[in-house]
Amino acid sequence: MKNSLMHLPKAELHLHIEGTLEPELILELAARNGITLPFPSLEALREQYEFSDLQSFLNLYYANMAVLITEADFADMTRAYLRRAKECGVRHAEIMFDPQAHLARGIALETVVDGIHSALSSSEAEFGISTGLIAAFLRDETEDSALAVLEELLAIDAPIIGIGLDSAEVGNPPSKFIRLFQRARDAGLRLVAHAGEEGPASYVVDALDLLGVERIDHGIRSVEDPALVARLVAEQIPLTVCPLSNVRLRAVDTLAEHPLPHMLAAGMNVSVNSDDPAYFGGYAGTNFEQLEDVFGWGAAAALTLAGNSVRSSFASQERKNELL
Ligand code: HPA
Ligand code: ZN
Repeated sequence: MKNSLMHLPKAELHLHIEGTLEPELILELAARNGITLPFPSLEALREQYEFSDLQSFLNLYYANMAVLITEADFADMTRAYLRRAKECGVRHAEIMFDPQAHLARGIALETVVDGIHSALSSSEAEFGISTGLIAAFLRDETEDSALAVLEELLAIDAPIIGIGLDSAEVGNPPSKFIRLFQRARDAGLRLVAHAGEEGPASYVVDALDLLGVERIDHGIRSVEDPALVARLVAEQIPLTVCPLSNVRLRAVDTLAEHPLPHMLAAGMNVSVNSDDPAYFGGYAGTNFEQLEDVFGWGAAAALTLAGNSVRSSFASQERKNELL
């Protein structure tokens, strides 16, 4: 790949493993599991990938999960992601999954966790990528549902390093999940949450103050609040920005209008991530390439973005030192 950013060791911090399910793999798993999809051909499926907002994407994202049935399905999906991530210089990946979405379909938590974990556990040897697994909770479900699933994850000693908050943001503010994040903190887990993707800057403030998150996923609407920007700069709170996702879900009109250059220039701790790469037009490398095409960035921005991703990860200091 042409991009200078491609060769820098970097961390991917905002990645939904279910969002790496490529159309080809969806059809393969559907055939393997005897599932009839509403869009039975590649062409018919690909036609669904035009989104008007977050919810229109989530509808397809949840529908396509129907093909994930066995441990091997989750392992194959995860291994396919790691293979692609390696090609674009990702050396550490913190991967979210949506346990509630699978439980709702009648898939056992162990099937999901063991499948993903079997791919992650050989990732360093197979792909040179160290990993961490984050259980993301659906903010359009109740806090009691999230708490029950967190307890189940703890009871089976699931190999998770942290929890996150995702799905439909507007109308589901951080204040809904105070007890969930308190419980996770008490269990020694790291804390992240989506905020300020479609929701207002105040959700970013509340994720920090009410939930105590260490990192904000997206956070682009923070730029609407100068006091929040000043705080994010002063405290160097990491924001895992996903430029192609924001364009495809119409959070911004075009990549050229994306606030990332302004955020970098302001001294915010931003990194570049792919979110749901099978749905949004590309993996980490494509995000970097398109940013370089549109903004003409050179080595300095590349080093800052890659360095931010590694420094903002939950990897050990020893691993960070290897990658910086
Ligand atoms: N935003 C919120 N929830 C999600 C996303 C996203 O981009 N991807 C998967 N779940
Ligand atoms: Zn996301």
